[in-house]
Amino acid sequence: MMTPRLALLTALLATAGAACPAWADGRNDAMLKLANGSGCLTCHHIEPGAKGPDGLAQIGPAWREVALKYKGQAGAEAKLTQTVLAGSNPYESHWKGKVSGLAMPPNAVAIKEADAKQLVKWILGLDAAKKS
Ligand code: HEC
Repeated sequence: MMTPRLALLTALLATAGAACPAWADGRNDAMLKLANGSGCLTCHHIEPGAKGPDGLAQIGPAWREVALKYKGQAGAEAKLTQTVLAGSNPYESHWKGKVSGLAMPPNAVAIKEADAKQLVKWILGLDAAKKS
C-alpha cells in the first residue's frame, strides 16, 4: 500500500515525466503557465502524436501542427486569437478528421484578449522552435 505522501510523489513524477520530453524545445514557462492556467492543455498538446483520453486522437490539434498549418499566412495571428476567444464552428471544422473534438468552445471566460494574443503568437512560432 502506498502512503499518501508516496502516492503524491508518484503522481508528480508521472506528470513531470509525461510533460518534459514533449515540451523540451517548445519550452517557455510563462506561456505554458498561461496555457495551463487557462485550461488549453486539457485539449491541446504541444507536440503531435500524443494521444487524448481513452487513446483516441487528441481533442484539439497539437500546437506544433497549428504553427505548420498557418505558417506564412497573413492575418493568422488575429484570426486565431478571435477563434480562441469566440470558439470555432462545428459545421466548419478546420481540423475535421484529424482531432477527436468537433469544435473549440469559446475561451473568453478563461483568458483575456491580450493573453490569448500572446499565446497565439507563441503557438505560431513553435514551428521555428523545432528547427533550431
Ligand atoms: C474543450 C477543448 C478545448 C480547449 C479547452 C481549448 N481548445 Fe483550442 N481547439 C479545440 C478543438 C477541438 C480545435 C479544432 C477546431 C476545428 O477543427 O476547427 C481547437 C483549435 C485550436 C486552434 C486552431 C484553430 C483553427 O482555426 O485552426 C488554436 C490556435 C487553439 N485551439 C488554441 C487554444 C488556446 C490558446 C486555448 C486556451 C485558451 C484552447 N485552444 C483551448 C479544443 C479546445
